[in-house]
Amino acid sequence: MALQGTFVWLSSLAVLSFAIAQDDTCSRPKLEEDLSALLKLGGECSGAWSSVQTATILQSLRNLTDVLQKQQLKDCQLAEPKNCTEAKVPENGGLACVTVANKRYCKPMCNHGYDFDFIRRSRVFEECSEQTGYKWQTQYIGGNRLAVCNEAKIQVSGAKTAYFPEDQSCLTTKSTLHSSFIENLTTELKNLGIQGETQSSCLVCG
Ligand SMILES: *[C@@H]1O[C@H](CO)[C@@H](O)[C@H](O)[C@H]1NC(C)=O
Ligand SMILES: *[C@@H]1O[C@H](CO)[C@@H](O)[C@H](O)[C@H]1NC(C)=O
Ligand SMILES: *[C@@H]1O[C@H](CO)[C@@H](O)[C@H](O)[C@H]1NC(C)=O
Repeated sequence: MALQGTFVWLSSLAVLSFAIAQDDTCSRPKLEEDLSALLKLGGECSGAWSSVQTATILQSLRNLTDVLQKQQLKDCQLAEPKNCTEAKVPENGGLACVTVANKRYCKPMCNHGYDFDFIRRSRVFEECSEQTGYKWQTQYIGGNRLAVCNEAKIQVSGAKTAYFPEDQSCLTTKSTLHSSFIENLTTELKNLGIQGETQSSCLVCG
C-alpha cells in the first residue's frame, strides 16, 4: 500500500518535471493542482516510507526544484533594450527590473539576514541603456553582477526597500504578493524622477 503510494507519487513527479521542462504552457494550471495534491499525499504518507524511498523522493524533489528554478530565472529575459545583457540575480536575494523609455532599471535586493557588501543606500536601481553604452552600471568591475548578498546580522548597506521582510523571502513575495510588489517598485522609480510608461516589470529570485 505504502509502496504503491510512493510509486504513484514518483510517477506523477516524473510527469510533472517532464511537462515543465517541455514548457507545455497549456497544462500549467493543472500542474499547480497536481503539485498540491502530491504535497498533501507526501505529508500523509511520509511516515510509511522507507529510508531509501524517502531519499529517492527527496532526490526527485531536488531535481524538480532545479528545473523550476531555471525556469523562474528566465522571468526577466527578453526585455527592452535588447542590447543590454541580462544582469546576474544575487543569491539569497532577488532582482526586480522594469523598462521605462527604453532604459532598463534593475534593483538588487537581499533576503532578511543578508546584506550587500558595498554601501548602496542611495543607489536603489542600476541602469542599462544607450546612455550607459548598453552596459550595466555596477559597483563591480565589468560584467553583469550588480550586487552580492552576504550573510549579516544587521542590514545597513542598502536602502530600506532593498531588503525583503523577515517573514517574506524573495520567493514568498513573488508567489503571494507579486502585483503589490511590482506596484511599489514602479512608485519607487517614479519617486526617483523616472517617469513614463513601464514595461516588462519582473522579479526573479536567486
Ligand atoms: C535527478 O537528476 C539526475 C541528473 O539529471 C538524474 O541522473 C537522476 O536520475 C534524477 N533522480 C531522480 C530520482 O529523479
Ligand atoms: C544594438 O543591437 C543591434 C542588433 O543586435 C545592433 O545592430 C546595434 O548596433 C546595437 N547597438 C549598439 C549601440 O550596440
Ligand atoms: C507596498 O507598499 C506598501 C506601503 O508602503 C506596504 O505596506 C506593502 O507591504 C508593500 N508591498 C510589498 C509587497 O512590498
